Amino acid sequence: MIKLINVCKKFDHRWITKGVTLTIPPEKMTVIIGKSGEGKSVLLKQMIGLIKPTSGSILIDDIDITQLKEKELNAIFEKVGYVFQFAALLDSLTVFENVALPLIENGYPEKAALPIVKERLSLVNLKADILNKYPSELSGGMLKRVGLARTLIHNPKIILYDEPVTGLDPITARVVHELMDETQKRLKITSVVVSHNVESFKYADYVALLKDGTIKYFGDAHTIWEEMNPDIYNFIRGIE
Ligand SMILES: Nc1ncnc2c1ncn2[C@@H]1O[C@H](COP(=O)(O)OP(=O)(O)OP(=O)(O)O)[C@@H](O)[C@H]1O
Ligand SMILES: [Mg+2]
Repeated sequence: MIKLINVCKKFDHRWITKGVTLTIPPEKMTVIIGKSGEGKSVLLKQMIGLIKPTSGSILIDDIDITQLKEKELNAIFEKVGYVFQFAALLDSLTVFENVALPLIENGYPEKAALPIVKERLSLVNLKADILNKYPSELSGGMLKRVGLARTLIHNPKIILYDEPVTGLDPITARVVHELMDETQKRLKITSVVVSHNVESFKYADYVALLKDGTIKYFGDAHTIWEEMNPDIYNFIRGIE
């Protein structure tokens, strides 16, 4: 379970998050929305310790990760997967080498990594024939799926997705959404998704709106279009 308590972050003299308090429901999908530059990526990166908050607490399974040293944070990285906006694959490595990287870094021999990589690729509906391809040979949708396969390598209990469908056509976006949905339900993963895409609500259980550095709304994604809270009402309809 992830719990943010009064999380504040400033860069130079500018406050980005000004007291975010939010409990992410376990084994469900929560979408965080908000205007560009509001601090959604900064918030997500704080949840995995990539950025340290200026003040406040972030609890993962009751451990305050803001208090951990780098070495102790590695144990959190095992539990929490992060899917970067642009897949963040290494161009000079093949699909196999990219997905296997977290295992190889942990001392797995390549031979032992191969069946694990194949299994994770099948989870994201990719076949073994792409194992020896390089990222430059893949489409945007395939790159997203390889990025997800790499994130799944450690069997994370939590996955954080930063803009998983931005830049994809509507059909590929739907495929990626369905994959995220299946992954969350099949593996009982807690998913946190930062997304601009209103289609993301269809697949989510909860929606949180980040505005002016705080969470202005948190509620059920299934009834979001009937919601009368002015902040959420205006945001999802694109009204200032
Ligand atoms: N490492 C950093 N140093 C200084 N400022 C930063 C840093 N990272 C982010 N910021 C600033 O924090 C603000 C929030 O950035 P963030 O990337 O979280 O926005 P966002 O809500 O994810 O926007 P988008 O929807 O466009 O991705 C921006 O003004 C950005 O310039
Ligand atoms: Mg962002």
